[in-house]
Amino acid sequence: MTERLKTITPAKGWRPDSWKQKTAGQQARYDDQDELEQALGKLRVLPPLVTSWEILGLKQQIAEAQAGKRFLLQGGDCAEVFDECESSIVANRLKVLLQMSLILLHGLEKPGLRIGRFAGQYAKPRSDDFETRDGVTLPSYRGDLVNGPDFTESARRPDPQRLLRAHARSAMSMNFVRGLVDGGFADLHHPEFWDLGWVTHSPLAAEFHRIADSIGQSVKFMETVTGQQPGSLRRVDFFTSHEALHLPYEETMIRQVPRQYGWFNLSTHFPWIGMRTAELEGAHVEMFRGVRNPVGVKVGPGMSSEWLKGLIRTLNPDNEAGRLVLIHRMSAGKVGDHLPGLIEAVRSTGSPVLWICDPMHGNTEKTANGYKTRRFDNIRSELEQAFEIHAACGSRLGGVHLELTGENVTECIGGARELNEEDLTRCYKTTVDPRLNYEQALEMAMLVVRKHRSLA
Ligand code: PEP
Ligand code: CO
Repeated sequence: MTERLKTITPAKGWRPDSWKQKTAGQQARYDDQDELEQALGKLRVLPPLVTSWEILGLKQQIAEAQAGKRFLLQGGDCAEVFDECESSIVANRLKVLLQMSLILLHGLEKPGLRIGRFAGQYAKPRSDDFETRDGVTLPSYRGDLVNGPDFTESARRPDPQRLLRAHARSAMSMNFVRGLVDGGFADLHHPEFWDLGWVTHSPLAAEFHRIADSIGQSVKFMETVTGQQPGSLRRVDFFTSHEALHLPYEETMIRQVPRQYGWFNLSTHFPWIGMRTAELEGAHVEMFRGVRNPVGVKVGPGMSSEWLKGLIRTLNPDNEAGRLVLIHRMSAGKVGDHLPGLIEAVRSTGSPVLWICDPMHGNTEKTANGYKTRRFDNIRSELEQAFEIHAACGSRLGGVHLELTGENVTECIGGARELNEEDLTRCYKTTVDPRLNYEQALEMAMLVVRKHRSLA
């Protein structure tokens, strides 16, 4: 019997709303419960955003990545915002991810697995429930799913109507991505479709074109020799993910589907549990132990071996392949101390996981001129150390998780263009965390290849 056909024990005592018996961190506080219930009631009957067969297809691909046959690239905005649900922004982000995945495919000589942080990445955890400016205290901005970023009472009020707008915008983004990918946008014969309009004379774009040309020639050669045009070169799979933070919203998308046992969260292919809400006894873990999606968990420097083993037991009691992705985000300074013990703890469970590295969230800092930023060198250092540590522990780093955009922003310091603190003032757009821009993202993909090869 293959792993896929293995019967999975239904989670005991679980229901789509059993999370309500636990403590839920990072939730919005709505002042009008009737309005909230009305919005949730509408969501419950709206079409979902993804399908069960796509989710099971992703699970299969994650199982392959666990076996070392694929490399996972997960990337996108820290926080999507309603105003940026624009065709050019969605397409540019897709283009960068496609270019990066081509670099990885070429350099690692194995197929990729592409997961966007998009089509639903609208809820954000915050360190404080409230924000005070000049003596005025208002609820913190929790992402466009909940409230608005402007510092006014009306913008910061958690508004249930936003749940419906988020669902609609997720569907629009999803529809556009599906249409592009299915319609030949990702065709390996035409990587020129993935060029970003605004990029001129970038040495990294030139390097990308060399790789794309070399793949183009191999594709042509193969087609000449076999006399066939393999359909698989014309399209790729693209999956969606978001931090499954807002539990009432997520619950409306947890559904049963015909001819499948169990429950699926149909708001996204790949929900992940953030670092601030990963308590073993918490409501988020309770919700996601009962769905059949693959699930990600952020693993920070504060997580102990026992805690992590408990999460594996709770979220994957049957040791199902493809179910669990551990996204470690330690910081360049801490990864060396914290990761080896956790790798050993996970190994001792015998349970299959996919380890991937998020080198962004441990390396956030504030500059003297008040900008939240990340240094390319720290991001790079954490990622390179992660590759080395996994290799030294007899484990494997199976992917990367990055915050990036296809827009020409200046939010992270460093990279090939050596952006400095002053440059941040030029084009800083993010509402939450700083993202890699196009060149920094391509450079990161090239670094992954270099590091991977040096350890092979
Ligand atoms: C995020 O991925 O945007 C995030 C908030 O991450 P973490 O939970 O790892 O801090
Ligand atoms: Co972030």
